[in-house]
Amino acid sequence: MSETEQQSPGENMRKVFVKTYGCQMNVYDSDRMADALARDGYQTTDKPEDADLLLLNTCHIREKAAEKVYSELGRIRQLKQARAEQGRDMMVGVAGCVAQAEGQEIIRRAPIVDLVIGPQTYHLLPQAVARARGGEKVVETEYAIEDKFDHLPQAEKKVIASRGVTAFLTVQEGCDKFCTFCVVPYTRGSEVSRPVEQIVAEAQGLVEAGVREITLLGQNVNAWHGEGPDNREWGLGELLRRLAEIDGLERLRYTTSHPRDMDDALIGAHRDLGKLMPYLHLPVQAGSDAVLKAMNRRHTADDYLRLVERIRSARPDIALSGDFIVGFPGESDADFEDTLRLIETVRYAQAFSFKYSPRPGTPGAEREDQVAEDVKSQRLERLQALLRKQQTDFAQSCVGTEIDLLLEKPGKLPGQLIGRSPWLQPVIVDANSSQIGEIIRVRITQAGANSLFAEPLRADIGSVTV
Ligand code: 5AD
Ligand code: SF4
Repeated sequence: MSETEQQSPGENMRKVFVKTYGCQMNVYDSDRMADALARDGYQTTDKPEDADLLLLNTCHIREKAAEKVYSELGRIRQLKQARAEQGRDMMVGVAGCVAQAEGQEIIRRAPIVDLVIGPQTYHLLPQAVARARGGEKVVETEYAIEDKFDHLPQAEKKVIASRGVTAFLTVQEGCDKFCTFCVVPYTRGSEVSRPVEQIVAEAQGLVEAGVREITLLGQNVNAWHGEGPDNREWGLGELLRRLAEIDGLERLRYTTSHPRDMDDALIGAHRDLGKLMPYLHLPVQAGSDAVLKAMNRRHTADDYLRLVERIRSARPDIALSGDFIVGFPGESDADFEDTLRLIETVRYAQAFSFKYSPRPGTPGAEREDQVAEDVKSQRLERLQALLRKQQTDFAQSCVGTEIDLLLEKPGKLPGQLIGRSPWLQPVIVDANSSQIGEIIRVRITQAGANSLFAEPLRADIGSVTV
């Protein structure tokens, strides 16, 4: 704590450090936890050693998640000791999906932990912290009946502005799909959708603070169905149309979608809304019907390909992204070849791929026909080589084209800014930091390994916001 901070009158300058693992929903949750704690005088810090409260926001989706948390807690114990030697206390909290899954066990195995809190109960965080400060070991993992979003405050404008010109907004949580490999239905609970007016108000607040692009989040975002102001139930396509009416909000995205919930209204929104970016993360996981069935995805490879065709005819420039799992129990060589074939047919702009990892408590983990680790590794290597090639081909196809670029933050070198293309690729361009938040017209000049390079067009106009 600096002297000036200590001297600021009437303020309680406790500091919180939040470390976030996993998906974008956790990134959003971490900010909202920080916002809730700000009301109790907690300031965020990016230095763990300065923290009066250290929170780990954990992820349980893949391999050894809990073990990683326990080893991180081992390191934190030393930090806590070092602070104690200086006569300063440090409270330690574990949040997120590992907290939900492990509960009390965390405090048993890691007694330095003061507080365990699951994702559905973040609105109870300030009280939980107060109780822990009183010396109690707190475990809050019950699914709360009340909607946490009714109780989580939005940050002050200057805090929102400090987080940048793009923002996440969770509209839906949980999942009722029960894919047989996935822990989400168990850690995040069943599907809950926020009502339209709550979402619009939050979006409006973000835009007033300078946000230009909002990504709607949900484990199953396109299953969102919320109550509208007209007391009717709206779908995601309708919600996007409503959000596109907000002046100053220039770009909309959403993630993650399930193929079964891509309805006509949502595809229509891609056709009609210029603000809805032509990028869609639409995981298929596998290309073999037998594996899709075993995964309980409840669609075939052909259903997926026909859906992709419909989406592409509505929005021809849409870029597709996907998630893939190799080595699900029972996956044969022929099944795996089907996945490669599906990828060849779709041509992905971006993708994430994983070796199957048996998650305790899920049906996939119980199966006896688990695939050998070396087979999974070989398959993953082949799959990733193909996906990398498609990603490079897509980036190369952008070279020479003109695009709108939302300038987000300073680049590595002075005089450079980084923005995002409509297809979510990072783009590096020479521009002035006062232009952050503007959308400028650029020509892509070069494709690098993970980003594109561009030159500004119409520099005399400076900003194009339509
Ligand atoms: N093993 C491997 N990958 C998994 N995913 C989810 N659960 C598992 C698992 N048990 C992947 C899926 C999902 C992404 C978020 O993580 O591809 O879409
Ligand atoms: Fe997990 Fe399937 Fe639900 Fe996605 S749709 S969160 S993969 S259970």
